[in-house]
Amino acid sequence: MKNLIQSILILIAVLKSTTGAEEVIYAQVGETVTLKAPVDNDFQSYLYWLYGKDISLGWRHPHGANNINADGHWTGHLSMSDHSLTIKNIQQEHFVTVLCKILNTPAPIATYRLLRVNVTMSPHSLLLPGDSLSLACTVETHQRKPQIYWLNPQGQKMNNRGLLTVRASGEYNGQWTCVVTNDKKEYKAKISVTVMDLSPPSPHHQYTSKSSPLTIPCSIPARISWEQIKAKGIQGIHWDFFPKPGLNPQRLFSLSLEDPLTWKPDQHRGLTPVQDLKGRNLSLTRNRGKEEDKGDYVCTLEFNNGLALNRTIHVKVLQIISTPGKELISGQQVNLTCGIGHSLPSDLQLKWIPPEQSSLSSLGPDHQHTHLTIPEVGMGDGGKWRCELRQNNTLLTSAVITLKIEKAKLSVWMLVIICSVTVIIILLILFFILYRRRKRKLTHLRHRLCQCKNPKPKGFYRT
Ligand SMILES: *[C@@H]1O[C@H](CO)[C@@H](O)[C@H](O)[C@H]1NC(C)=O
Ligand SMILES: *[C@@H]1O[C@H](CO)[C@@H](O)[C@H](O)[C@H]1NC(C)=O
Ligand SMILES: *[C@@H]1O[C@H](CO)[C@@H](O)[C@H](O)[C@H]1NC(C)=O
Repeated sequence: MKNLIQSILILIAVLKSTTGAEEVIYAQVGETVTLKAPVDNDFQSYLYWLYGKDISLGWRHPHGANNINADGHWTGHLSMSDHSLTIKNIQQEHFVTVLCKILNTPAPIATYRLLRVNVTMSPHSLLLPGDSLSLACTVETHQRKPQIYWLNPQGQKMNNRGLLTVRASGEYNGQWTCVVTNDKKEYKAKISVTVMDLSPPSPHHQYTSKSSPLTIPCSIPARISWEQIKAKGIQGIHWDFFPKPGLNPQRLFSLSLEDPLTWKPDQHRGLTPVQDLKGRNLSLTRNRGKEEDKGDYVCTLEFNNGLALNRTIHVKVLQIISTPGKELISGQQVNLTCGIGHSLPSDLQLKWIPPEQSSLSSLGPDHQHTHLTIPEVGMGDGGKWRCELRQNNTLLTSAVITLKIEKAKLSVWMLVIICSVTVIIILLILFFILYRRRKRKLTHLRHRLCQCKNPKPKGFYRT
């Protein structure tokens, strides 16, 4: 409790002509309290700080000489400067009424009533979501009862009393503030509540590609120690993969809780747990993403009481698809599509980076479309096309496709020549065959004609 209390400096507002008026000062044990004499006094004489039956806490001469009480339980707690008295690391026995007096002036110029504020919580250990948490803020009262209420870590007012009981949840992790209000003055006492949680906050999207590493993050926040988790009755930690909604999950890894902590692989999909066996960083990694990595990964911590704490990481794979393909003939139209398989959330931006010699190398910064059309690919369009996925200028991942372009004109001409030559050869062969056949027919005819008495003259004629 004590080590949670922060030492804060309490300055007392200047009160005009408050001679004798009593001022209430709230503090928690361990804090530092500074009492300031009202400045509109004539400090040409000795200034005294007293308590109880005129016991001196200290005095100061107008020219600076001073003396403080170094006796008994005040030893080491007091210090003075100009017109103020400081009590550091205030303890129970220091909550007294302090008077500030000037020599030869009978009435005190100021009276300070120091009142103790006590802030406690139960249980004092790490809380699991759902655990009951009680906070108590008690104040010593004097004359008027102060108003007390609690603020949660988000600064929202929770009640109108010093006692508060809530069910722990992630948002209740952090500093709670008890506000004590008295006579328009406010005093705030803080206390830290630790609720078990996992990082990163949900929902979390993680992006990868075939040319980028894959990290599936899950970690125990640094403010929570492994000892605290063990004391809470941790039973198991595991990773599961859900390729698609409706399909059975695959168990990827389970953490064996015996010392030393070791991950037991199941269907590990080539993933490796981060080597941090202080039990902090539970992330899985691989040096390259794969198309099949797409899906939901769930990191779960199970406790003895049946409670399970988990984080779901949605992994998306950035890909570039080229139609009609990666091997192209110059002059062809090509469409490149870069995406994650569904439309991009509005807070994400795409950036294309064409090869240096590409005709599209001067794509403007506003070219953020999923689809990119190259009306006629040229030789310069060959090479690596990169597509970057960014969120507020932070690179999330990038994908690469390599296009191969062949010279089209030459091959078309060659094709034309080859075809022409083939056609000519076929035609020649046909012609030759026809000619031979015709010739043979004629010879045969002549033979028959020669058996008659009047052979016809040489030559072709129609029958
Ligand atoms: C856990 O390890 C991964 C991979 O090395 C790293 O990127 C990440 O920042 C680590 N997380 C924490 C909370 O240390
Ligand atoms: C490229 O996209 C345009 C418009 O979407 C379409 O008309 C064209 O046929 C596509 N070309 C190829 C090669 O897919
Ligand atoms: C992105 O930047 C804008 C303004 O610069 C900011 O308001 C917003 O919170 C940022 N978003 C993320 C996810 O960092």
